[in-house]
Amino acid sequence: MRPLALLAALLVASAPLAPTPASAQTAKTRAVDVDLRARLAEVQADPRLFDAMVQQGRKVAAFCANCHGEGGNSTKPDIPNLAGQNPAYVLEQVRQFAVGKRRYEFMEGLIKALSPDEMVGVVLYYTQQPVRPQPVSDAALAARGKAYYDKICFRCHGEEGHGTEQFARIAGQQRDYLRISLKRYRDGKGPRIDPLMAANTRGMSDADIEAVVAYVSSMR
Ligand code: HEC
Ligand code: HEC
Repeated sequence: MRPLALLAALLVASAPLAPTPASAQTAKTRAVDVDLRARLAEVQADPRLFDAMVQQGRKVAAFCANCHGEGGNSTKPDIPNLAGQNPAYVLEQVRQFAVGKRRYEFMEGLIKALSPDEMVGVVLYYTQQPVRPQPVSDAALAARGKAYYDKICFRCHGEEGHGTEQFARIAGQQRDYLRISLKRYRDGKGPRIDPLMAANTRGMSDADIEAVVAYVSSMR
């Protein structure tokens, strides 16, 4: 079992991390051509490869740190934390930026320039880091937000807001980013249309959104 696992790790580590002759001629292997989820599962099942990919991801993260912060805790309220999120969810968002399904002008070029393994690596690096939740500034507002959250949002994002592979972690997320995202889903604005989020934000007033943002941003 051990020698086999080691051999597998060596094979995987030496092949995809270096460009193959075919992909070196053109650009790097494009994300669209690779099953990123399968690659993520492969890496997660192999501790040595996992560590190597996280190291690689840490280097890639230097390109993202200006906006997403060192260690994925953003210092700008309209830019999301990547720390502590679910790797499968974040990888899917990266894929969407890479194929143009989700859009953000100032980032998509950078994402498109990453190889599939760089994408997996940077996602693993960030999602391993601990989140720093936002302090509560208005306890009464946050309590109203909790009541709303516990009625509706917990069903998908979880009682603690930690999310799953399909549903984002939102606990501790940046306030402006939460507010902007919720309004976009509610109002059907921007490229990020999602039927589940549209249905679950349709009934929200701006005041409901403020309350939920106050609560969710402070969740640990
Ligand atoms: C110029 C600033 C900037 C840079 C540099 C940047 N990002 Fe972003 N990123 C953003 C903003 C702003 C958003 C939110 C876009 C939106 O509103 O949909 C975002 C969103 C994301 C998301 C979605 C998060 C979620 O919760 O859904 C991921 C994943 C992401 N970025 C990864 C990266 C990675 C990886 C890099 C480096 C390779 C990077 N970003 C570099 C500004 C940046
Ligand atoms: C039926 C399931 C469901 C419910 C209920 C739900 N969500 Fe979501 N939520 C999702 C899905 C799916 C996504 C990802 C959509 C996408 O890819 O754009 C999402 C995305 C989000 C995002 C963007 C996260 C990010 O990192 O970009 C926020 C913020 C959010 N939800 C907040 C809420 C809040 C607050 C509530 C309660 C009012 C709620 N959601 C209720 C399914 C749900």
